[in-house]
Amino acid sequence: MIEVRKVTKVFASVNKKASSTIAVDDASITVHDGEFVSIVGASGCGKTTLLHMIAGFERPTAGEILLNGTRIEGPGRERSVVFQQPTLYPWLTVRKNVALGLMLKSRRDVDWELVDEFVDKVGLKNFLKHHPHQLSGGMQQRVSIARALITSPDILLMDEPFGALDAQTRSEMQAFLLDLWQSLHSTVLFVTHDVEEAILLSDRVVVMSPRPGRVIRDIAISLPRPRQWDVLLSDEFLAYKREILSLIRMPKRAEGA
Ligand SMILES: Nc1ncnc2c1ncn2[C@@H]1O[C@H](COP(=O)(O)OP(=O)(O)O)[C@@H](O)[C@H]1O
Ligand SMILES: [Mg+2]
Repeated sequence: MIEVRKVTKVFASVNKKASSTIAVDDASITVHDGEFVSIVGASGCGKTTLLHMIAGFERPTAGEILLNGTRIEGPGRERSVVFQQPTLYPWLTVRKNVALGLMLKSRRDVDWELVDEFVDKVGLKNFLKHHPHQLSGGMQQRVSIARALITSPDILLMDEPFGALDAQTRSEMQAFLLDLWQSLHSTVLFVTHDVEEAILLSDRVVVMSPRPGRVIRDIAISLPRPRQWDVLLSDEFLAYKREILSLIRMPKRAEGA
């Protein structure tokens, strides 16, 4: 379980004359084991900063983040991060890029059968020997996801992982992630500015206000699972979408409500 408790992050300005930036303001979020939770909000509202603090890349200025009751002081093996751009090594094959996830853990005995199993899991069985430049953007992101998952993390932290993809690929990747998550039962914290994507994937959607990023609403999404694309057309889906868009677009009114 992840507990973000009254976390604030202030970035000091490099230039003394400029004021410092409050990236996250007094945010509290709890994510339970096995949950799929999305954080949505306008660009610049502090989503990435919040995710990086949970990943252990950044420290909160105030407040604390607990993982199963212990304060997060840095990165750890139980958490894996998938970034917006697939961070692959161009000179390594798909197989070796995925194996890197394991090599970082122990250099010697890479379990190549396990590597092949994960490459297969993300649908790239026929691309084991290919290099990243020979793959589409969606396929590259699948490699990143396989690499993040191969160490069996309890928690997958994803920062707009499909943000750079075209609409069609993006929707395929959403379906792919839903399937994968259902078979793995891991906890996912997913950052996106795409409201539809957040509703489609999540058990809960946490809505942040524009900068300084505050948590303004935590909405349980009670659409039945497994979810198919046609859920996007249902009245319930549209009601969630309307609610969240109005919060993001009119934060002042929403906060006062
Ligand atoms: N390392 C940093 N140093 C200074 N300012 C930063 C840093 N990282 C983010 N910020 C600022 O914090 C705010 C929130 O950024 P970010 O978390 O990237 O937002 P989002 O991911 O929601 O688009 C922005 O104003 C951004 O410029
Ligand atoms: Mg971001």
